[in-house]
Amino acid sequence: MNNDLITIQKIKLQDLVEFARNSLDDPAYGDVSPISLLRAESQSKNPQGEPDDIVLLVAFYKNLCIGYLGLMPGRLTGKHSVSTIYWMITLYLDAGYRGKGYGKRLLSEMQQLGVDLVATGITRNVEGLCRSMGFRHPAELPYYRLHPENTSYLKNAVKHLTPVEKTFFSKPVNQLTEKINTPAARQDSVISFQRDINTINWMIRNPWVVSRQGAQEDVKQYFFSRVRDLFEFVALEIFAPDEQTRKGYLVLSVSRNKNSTTIKILDYYFHDPKDTLIAGYLGMKWSIAYGADRLEYPGGLAAFFENYPDLRQLTKKKKRLYLFCPRSSNSPLAVLAEKVELKYSDSDTAFT
Ligand SMILES: CC(C)(COP(=O)(O)OP(=O)(O)OC[C@H]1O[C@@H](n2cnc3c(N)ncnc32)[C@H](O)[C@@H]1OP(=O)(O)O)[C@@H](O)C(=O)NCCC(=O)NCCS
Repeated sequence: MNNDLITIQKIKLQDLVEFARNSLDDPAYGDVSPISLLRAESQSKNPQGEPDDIVLLVAFYKNLCIGYLGLMPGRLTGKHSVSTIYWMITLYLDAGYRGKGYGKRLLSEMQQLGVDLVATGITRNVEGLCRSMGFRHPAELPYYRLHPENTSYLKNAVKHLTPVEKTFFSKPVNQLTEKINTPAARQDSVISFQRDINTINWMIRNPWVVSRQGAQEDVKQYFFSRVRDLFEFVALEIFAPDEQTRKGYLVLSVSRNKNSTTIKILDYYFHDPKDTLIAGYLGMKWSIAYGADRLEYPGGLAAFFENYPDLRQLTKKKKRLYLFCPRSSNSPLAVLAEKVELKYSDSDTAFT
């Protein structure tokens, strides 16, 4: 490894869009683009970020961009505290520069930022790399993936739920209203990576993966997901049958590529926990409507789906690994790492 030839540029949140725009026509980014313009525009609006946050480390070999590491500011909510953590959301090196220690160099520069770091949704290689760099406290989030094969099983299951349909009214919206910004208040005993209404609305309004139709050419060579045949969020506010009394909300994503469609049940909240079955019911209904090949749902809905033996055999339990790298032995992340309640929509996972 010759680290002397490597320089690392650190981009702040407030400079991200300008950086992405300038890199579009710059030959230094001919083979490796560190971020798409759309992603930069979205991330610059992250309600959990601050203008001075470093969110992108860009590695240059001489004057050529050879790789990058992206960070997304987030929150860790304790019983009496809220602190900032940074999700490691992208890591990439040009193929010709791998295995030379430059990945380690990027991680080391990230650690020198002196912030609390969390990685999830990573490959085995990156897991090995992170562990070798001192990431600790491995934790796993269980979630579920249902492969309906064809929608007949779902249609059957939904048939048994016809009475549920009479208990609510669902309304598609462009954003969720602040009036139901309650989970944080109600769950003050839960230690988690906070994803409040503002954060959910930021995602709904600023997707960085978009449907092919209408997508702009906003980057040259980008490794991470940017365009699918179809990608959209479905945000629903749920009311009582009077169409006035609020029951809660539900957010789904629909993603289609190469004729395979995945629906994810992302965020949901109901004032009355008994209404949680509406999330499962609507997940099935929308899966039928889109002819989904996969329906992913969080552990919180496992009990609901277990009521349907036909579906159980089509369902796989999945796990998502988390690794933590606290900035010091007494940082908020170090203190709370073992107690964090992981959520299906943590990090940038809900965006893709
Ligand atoms: C991920 C990536 C940036 C790593 O870059 P790299 O150049 O291989 O990384 P480095 O050479 O700096 O580090 C490799 C180190 O990781 C560790 N490592 C890698 N894979 C490992 C594994 N499976 N188990 C244990 N350790 C592992 C080793 O300790 C090795 O350190 P060593 O030099 O002491 O042997 C690069 O492979 C890449 O760009 N991949 C494609 C993009 C991608 O998949 N990104 C991840 C998306 S989550």
